[in-house]
Amino acid sequence: MRVLSVFSSIMRILRIEFNQLQMKRIIAPITLLVLLIACNNNQKKKEETQQLTSQQYLEPYRPQFHFSPQEKWMNDPNGLVFHDGIYHLFYQYYPDDIVWGPMHWGHATSNDMIHWEHKPIALYPDEHGLIFSGSAVVDKNNTSGFAKNGEIPLVAIYTYHLMEGEQAGRKDFQTQGIAYSLDNGDTWTKYEGNPVIGNTGIKDFRDPKVFWHDESERWIMALVAGDHAKFYSSENLKDWTYLSDFGKYQGAHGGVWECPDLFQLPVEGTDETQWVLIISINPGAPNGGSGTQYFIGEFDGKRFTSNQKEPKWLDYGTDNYAGVTYNNVPDGDRVFIGWMSNWDYARDTPTEVWRSAMTVPRKLSLRKVDDEYMLVNYPLEELDAKAFPVLVSDINLDGKESRTLDIEGMNQTQIKFKTTSKDFKLQLKNNLGEHLELSMDSRNQLMLLDRMESGKVNFQAEFGNKKHHMPIDKLANDAFEVRILLDWSSVEVFVDSGLYVMTDQIFPTQPYNSIIIENLDEETAIQNVTIEQMVSIWQ
Ligand code: FRU
Repeated sequence: MRVLSVFSSIMRILRIEFNQLQMKRIIAPITLLVLLIACNNNQKKKEETQQLTSQQYLEPYRPQFHFSPQEKWMNDPNGLVFHDGIYHLFYQYYPDDIVWGPMHWGHATSNDMIHWEHKPIALYPDEHGLIFSGSAVVDKNNTSGFAKNGEIPLVAIYTYHLMEGEQAGRKDFQTQGIAYSLDNGDTWTKYEGNPVIGNTGIKDFRDPKVFWHDESERWIMALVAGDHAKFYSSENLKDWTYLSDFGKYQGAHGGVWECPDLFQLPVEGTDETQWVLIISINPGAPNGGSGTQYFIGEFDGKRFTSNQKEPKWLDYGTDNYAGVTYNNVPDGDRVFIGWMSNWDYARDTPTEVWRSAMTVPRKLSLRKVDDEYMLVNYPLEELDAKAFPVLVSDINLDGKESRTLDIEGMNQTQIKFKTTSKDFKLQLKNNLGEHLELSMDSRNQLMLLDRMESGKVNFQAEFGNKKHHMPIDKLANDAFEVRILLDWSSVEVFVDSGLYVMTDQIFPTQPYNSIIIENLDEETAIQNVTIEQMVSIWQ
């Protein structure tokens, strides 16, 4: 039996690896195969082999240009902050299993937000509870008094979730705590005065996002409390004063509000700025489960106001949740990273060593279209350097034309084109007949992403049961760009440079190896179709 199971796992590895483009990716599993046979299926060796595979990031479905933890469960990005040449990515992490469990802050660092180095766990649960989501700031002026020997403190502000309190049926089990690091994130000390904000009986009271507000010369915290956001201010990150509430009667309320973020953004091509409040919501997203809405408005140092009644959505796919932005980015850019999953099925996805990945880092901006402010999110420029080599370029389709391109190993590519046609269909297929479809329908002003037969979908009822809709009514009338980032278990679609975005997980069991592009309109054209291989960030 054992021999059989080893053989079948070898075959699995081989089948997948043979479909990949780089020989490098074939050599590793073959080496492992020889090792396995030579060691007569020794259990210890098998474990070592698994470990090796996970370090090389070559397992089935493993993203190649998105961040994923080396192993075990991950959810929200936390504590996104730049300090002293390093971008930090902390994240909700459970080191003992690939399903959600007692939360820690995992940690990775980067010079460019594209390539990541894994670091030891930053924050462990303590007597106040598990470590839920939150943010981090650079306390340049040592307002907290945590500095020693001239080292600038990094301060993390997070939610404590006291399991015992929840289990006892109390409502005050979420409080806010802080911790600091004097070695740029390597080691952390919890503040002895924790929690810094107690709970007066609000069941969902979490996910503090803190930033320095220049005008009022104070720290401002946005926090969520079930169906609304709350704002607080502080001079020292330890003592917090309640300021105001926002949102009980505005936006979407299909589920609990989570992971707020508040920041100011310039409006493209003007001197104008507006404030943006991001709120994740679960459930209640346009295509089901978890999603991220935003509000455009004003913040006067105390109160956020917006005359927006209806929700606007940062992403219409089902897999961009709990996203927040970096503090302290050197050139002032606003960079967003989201968790590429959905609470509907996050625990069920068919990976074995790790669970879930982050979106690519995306630069946020505001665009005014027909007198309406729209939040634009688009991959960081640094990602362009990973698009190499060019596999296909300069394909043009006139009215009613269609084209089939056979390209081996499409699962790690970027597809781009300009189009004046608003009626088209793109299909990515593999030899098993699994296919992913993206279509645009101008009559109904819709884009549709169909993953219903894109690969493995039956691990959970909701995952592959419907097409995902994105209403599109504010597109440029001349040519606009469609850009698709395809990794081994995700697809990100950016329309008109990030004005409309969809992010979905997919689990094709073999790489897609053909693409069919159809221009369904008579008059207009699809231009400059380009397909580029994306270089792995892990090899
Ligand atoms: C969002 C969330 C947060 C919470 C964390 C717990 O996905 O539910 O509100 O802090 O996950 O892991």
